[in-house]
Amino acid sequence: VMAERGGYKHFMLKEIHEQPDVVEATLRGRVDLVNGDVHATEIGVSPELAREIRRVYITACGTSHHAGIAGRYWIEQLARVPTVVELASEVRYRDPIFYPDDLVIAISQSGETADTIAALKAAKAQGAKVLALCNVVDSAIPRASDGALYTHAGPEIGVASTKCFTTQLAALLMLAVYLGRRRGTLDEGRARETLQALWEIPNQMRDVLGDADYVHAIAKKMTHAKDVLFLGRGLGFPIALEGALKLKEISYAHAEGYAAGEMKHGPIALIDETLPVVVICPRDAHFDKTVSNLEEVRAREGQVIAIATKGDEQILEKSQYQVWLPKVRDEVLPLLTVLPLQLIAYYVAHLKGNDVDQPRNLAKTVTVE
Ligand code: G6P
Repeated sequence: VMAERGGYKHFMLKEIHEQPDVVEATLRGRVDLVNGDVHATEIGVSPELAREIRRVYITACGTSHHAGIAGRYWIEQLARVPTVVELASEVRYRDPIFYPDDLVIAISQSGETADTIAALKAAKAQGAKVLALCNVVDSAIPRASDGALYTHAGPEIGVASTKCFTTQLAALLMLAVYLGRRRGTLDEGRARETLQALWEIPNQMRDVLGDADYVHAIAKKMTHAKDVLFLGRGLGFPIALEGALKLKEISYAHAEGYAAGEMKHGPIALIDETLPVVVICPRDAHFDKTVSNLEEVRAREGQVIAIATKGDEQILEKSQYQVWLPKVRDEVLPLLTVLPLQLIAYYVAHLKGNDVDQPRNLAKTVTVE
């Protein structure tokens, strides 16, 4: 059994460490660095459709839904198409409105999630075009869709999704660049720089994952926490949600992901010296704002674990624990910021003696409502 897990103790840990390779596999043959573009034949959306759509409507569940939120930010920024993200379980019961010039993106690792299938059927019934973003080839969701964009993560066994998430991110960023180039909202220079940064991500992921021991030490301090708060802004927000989901799925601690700017509307009431707060605060466009949230946590004695950019003196001074990431373009940050959060969840669960690969009450694929 150890051999199946490639020498790792659990499938989840193996899958975390596979991420550089599978992200590379998802990009390979699709990214065109010479022209600053993405090959049309590889993306599941024709150039005509890319130009005609007036809205992108992303629907998914769980971890795939979090990838969708990052996808929204990218598609709006780079392709300037209004984009919404909806939980599939809500869409199906809400009498939703779709238009024939909507591009609906159904994101699903398994391609078999019942709620996501129901949401995409509602969209199709109203004439919208559907793109499946899936990992399992020829599963129900791609079969029911107009086009498919596959992630190449390979089989994912751990119930808590890791490598499928980062490949979904890579695919969504490629798609945003592709749409932006077709629609003329993204010039070749910025497209090339973004794709170049994405291309370099697998190696940077290798570096970050190489620091796993340090994250283990931080996780040790968090083992007995009953509640953990995750804060992020912009592309850090879906990662805060995902960090909290990972932790609750396998460690059974209560965890909440929050948009950093929303802290004052509720979670700030929870902060005291017992509360670990993971703040995603790399040197991106939102840095100053997020640091002021971090200071608010410190002022109330919260324990700050900062996910930050290497060499950031300000963060070193203001937080108790730090995980350092290399400096990268803002667009590709989520592919790095999520890695320490996956590791924290893994180590906390393992230190508690939980069954990491088969957490209680959860299923890998939910084919019932
Ligand atoms: C289950 C899994 C999660 C997954 C979610 C959506 O809850 O435990 O890891 O994110 O389903 O699954 P999908 O296959 O549609 O991405």
